Amino acid sequence: MTAFPKGFLWGGAVAAHQFEGGWQAGGKGVSIADVMTAGDNETKRRITDGVQSGENYPNHDAIDYYHRYHEDDQLFADLGLNCFRTSIAWTRIFPNGDEEQPNEAGLKFYDDVFDDLLSHQIEPVITLSHFEMPYHLVKKYGGWRSRKVIDFFVKFATVVFDRYKDKVKYWMTFNEINNQVGMMNEWSLFTNSGLLIKPDEDKEAVMFQAAHYEAVASALAVQIGHRINPDFQIGCMVAMGPVYPATPNPNDVFKAERTMQTNYYLADVQVKGKYPAFLDRYFDRHAFNLDITLEDRDVLLAGKVDYIGFSYYASHVTEASQDEPTDFITMGHNREVKNSTLQRSDWGWEIDPVGLRYALNWFSDRYEVPLFIVENGFGAFDKINQDGHIQDDYRIDYLRQHINQMRLAVEVDGVKLMGYTPWGIIDLVSAGTGQMEKRYGVIYVDKDDQGKGTLARSKKASFDWFQKVIRSNGDDL
Ligand code: BG6
Repeated sequence: MTAFPKGFLWGGAVAAHQFEGGWQAGGKGVSIADVMTAGDNETKRRITDGVQSGENYPNHDAIDYYHRYHEDDQLFADLGLNCFRTSIAWTRIFPNGDEEQPNEAGLKFYDDVFDDLLSHQIEPVITLSHFEMPYHLVKKYGGWRSRKVIDFFVKFATVVFDRYKDKVKYWMTFNEINNQVGMMNEWSLFTNSGLLIKPDEDKEAVMFQAAHYEAVASALAVQIGHRINPDFQIGCMVAMGPVYPATPNPNDVFKAERTMQTNYYLADVQVKGKYPAFLDRYFDRHAFNLDITLEDRDVLLAGKVDYIGFSYYASHVTEASQDEPTDFITMGHNREVKNSTLQRSDWGWEIDPVGLRYALNWFSDRYEVPLFIVENGFGAFDKINQDGHIQDDYRIDYLRQHINQMRLAVEVDGVKLMGYTPWGIIDLVSAGTGQMEKRYGVIYVDKDDQGKGTLARSKKASFDWFQKVIRSNGDDL
């Protein structure tokens, strides 16, 4: 008897802009990922005003899945995946985002990809928008700060739901929709919502407005999707990093809980179909003048998601300040404290397998819907041995410990878990830094941070290990 049910979804996760390349192929338009330069651990990615000559844009060519999907899907099949999470690049379907008619070449590309995956009995799991909205919508409408973008997104969702209704069953609307809440930094606001904040704007108000329009668009998409195919399973996708109190001081404990409530309020909106009471009060107190209509509230209630997809990499610690506001809300300034009990990755991400069990339980208690871990993994520098092999025991270790906690959550805690798709199953461009050498894959891709390499694929030690895990349905770790 294994802990995981029959039909448990074992997969790998990627996003179109981080692995497809072919940024202009088949009539594709420029996305927001196409105007982000390469960075690294110390250097932030820059957002340029359109595509500028002489800049290094790592997402343009990425790892060229666009031309190599046949070969890569074969590797995923060898690995034993029964599902594969990727996204549809919005700009392949609507290059500018506001066209009347979709781009047939883009639609055809995903037909081919989904057919190829299905021919290997690999079920596609599709995110509609994963950090890659059309750049034109940023320039012309200011990104998601405009209500008009709801219509463009709904049209895009309707076209792809309709086109792939017999090929794709599992969908998610917006990737890590809540990133912009917890961090409020330039990168999150741009990648989540195509927002470039003007000097005279209240960043917080703009973010809440954009996130609201996205939530409404998501709820409309859920309703339309269910009408197109009642068997569709449509989830939200949130970035989960549990927040622990720095000490047992009740103020720290309440601070941590309030930070969780604010970081995951979009899960309330998408799963329960309503804003949490404390946030409605916060909106009133701050007179943000948000455009949240009664009709919108009905839409949210009618468009609740079927499941929660979430990413989990690390946990966080916070503490209350001496002059903590009475509501304990300090959007984006959450006094992050180092957790002295945990090790960190080379990028400073705290490694906390138990945090995954905590996250699964937190979601499960609060929302009572099925859960799907659609990202988890260890970004690391890999070294090629003299014999050409990569012995990535650190990655195996990370994945093993996390799967073990996930197993306890299912077996001991009774959490309803649909599946597990580790992030970047094949090496790809990092979203945060634009690096190739922050590698997550069990499949190595020969390309470095300067964009040099043959793009040849090879199996790391973690490939054989994960294959064995899948074959035993999670028993043999
Ligand atoms: C999640 C994103 O935030 O984490 C992915 O959904 C991203 O797009 C992943 O790649 C890992 O982050 P990074 O910055 O290491 O690529």
